[in-house]
Amino acid sequence: MKNILFVASESVPFIKTGGLADVVGSLPKSLDKEKYDVRIFIPKYGCMKQEMKDRLNYKTNFYMDFNWKNVYVGIMEAVVDGITYYFIDNEYYFSGPKPYCDDALFEIEKYAFFSKAVLSSLPLIDFKPDIMHCHDWQTGLIPVYLKDHFAGSEFFRDMKSIMTIHNLKFQGKWNIETVKNITGLSDYYFTNDKLEAYGDANLLKGGIVYADTVTTVSKTYAQEVKTEFYGEGLHGLLQAREGELKGIVNGIDYTDFNPESNPLIYNNYTVENFRKEKIKNKRALQKELGLKQDDKTMLIGIVSRLTDQKGFDLIEYMMEEMCKDNVQFVILGTGSAQYEDMFRSFAGRYPDKVSANIYYSEALSHKIYAASDAFLMPSLFEPCGLSQLMALRYGTLPIVRETGGLKDTVEPYNEYEGTGTGFSFANYNAHEMLNTLRYAEEVYYNSKRDWNKMVERAMNADFSWGVSAKKYEEMYEELTK
Ligand code: ADP
Ligand code: GLC
Repeated sequence: MKNILFVASESVPFIKTGGLADVVGSLPKSLDKEKYDVRIFIPKYGCMKQEMKDRLNYKTNFYMDFNWKNVYVGIMEAVVDGITYYFIDNEYYFSGPKPYCDDALFEIEKYAFFSKAVLSSLPLIDFKPDIMHCHDWQTGLIPVYLKDHFAGSEFFRDMKSIMTIHNLKFQGKWNIETVKNITGLSDYYFTNDKLEAYGDANLLKGGIVYADTVTTVSKTYAQEVKTEFYGEGLHGLLQAREGELKGIVNGIDYTDFNPESNPLIYNNYTVENFRKEKIKNKRALQKELGLKQDDKTMLIGIVSRLTDQKGFDLIEYMMEEMCKDNVQFVILGTGSAQYEDMFRSFAGRYPDKVSANIYYSEALSHKIYAASDAFLMPSLFEPCGLSQLMALRYGTLPIVRETGGLKDTVEPYNEYEGTGTGFSFANYNAHEMLNTLRYAEEVYYNSKRDWNKMVERAMNADFSWGVSAKKYEEMYEELTK
């Protein structure tokens, strides 16, 4: 039996702002339980739902030297679906109204604390990981600390680490003097071959340099990050670590995201009966959101963080034009004020056509995946993307830009060969997006049989964790042999 510890800033079912939480919470369930004891460490955020907080049990506490202070570290525990979760408790760092805040320095201090606290907790919880599987910049210091503060002790000696990059855009950067103070790391670590990048200290870079293996969440993104356009300044380093850089595409939890049984959608359906039953979801959603009730109008869903990453400047540029077509839009998302306001304003002007839901809702997200005909995701970059996988699972055809995981998971429609599960375009260009959307409309309105066959293929495509979980297992074996 090998022990694997996932460390991350979020995980379902406790706390989620995006796909990271889905991955951290679902991948462990798919790994072979005979071979791996996989557990998860996240912060205990004050903003977790009360019903979730009620599930935690106090385990122990201690005081840790951190940032020139002696700081309280509580450890809580919960078991969900057979998976053990641990939580780091500290009021000062984790009591904010959201998991993340805009104060970049506080974020760095917070997750430096978290990373050190997780490692310091291990001898007290009776779980000795063979591998620390770290996710995103928030945990970038763990591979570094393993080689530094903790390297002297027998307990940590053979512990391996993996750095999984879910989004290279976020790196955790601040000036070197401050980060040196916070982390307690010596000058030695702040050179260009270690944590320093472009004059600053960079936590993700530390993780990439010191981890035994580096992965990212799709094959295409693993290639893209080695280029200047996608590399966010770290492309040189990622080229250098090419040998250890693997791309393993994400899956989703096919039990949670199941149109046949999910209780959150209006009407369950299957690949056999979607032609009659899926439409009931559209009718109910149109009614609930006050859109014009019309079976025949193509309904386009968007469920997303409203950021530049997701291609909203293309949508903003074309929204007026797209609203001239016989389509409806339903948007669920929060993020930058510019895009929130843009959708609100279109919803105000075209109440029959556009529904803007500027908030976070698990339930509404499922209803939109189930009710829509198409799902629009024209991302500028997309490490993997889970929304398009959820759409496919619900027979809602993705319209995407061919980047990162979108390219690896959505097969473009080929009308001559009768293949494909969605529609895609290559360049980050608003007219290409519009043309692709209009092509989708044409198929939807004029070749319904072909559209439905595509829905069938989408629903039959398999993006559950099976294959990818095997790849993680191979990597764990490789690292511990
Ligand atoms: P990212 O992690 O970059 O945000 P992904 O496509 O990997 O993108 O994952 C996004 C996840 O967050 C999906 O599960 C999606 O359904 C969910 N999501 C995004 N915005 C909202 C929202 N406003 N309400 C509910 N779920 C949301
Ligand atoms: C990040 C990426 C997204 C990916 C998710 C889970 O948030 O933006 O593309 O699907 O992580 O790996």
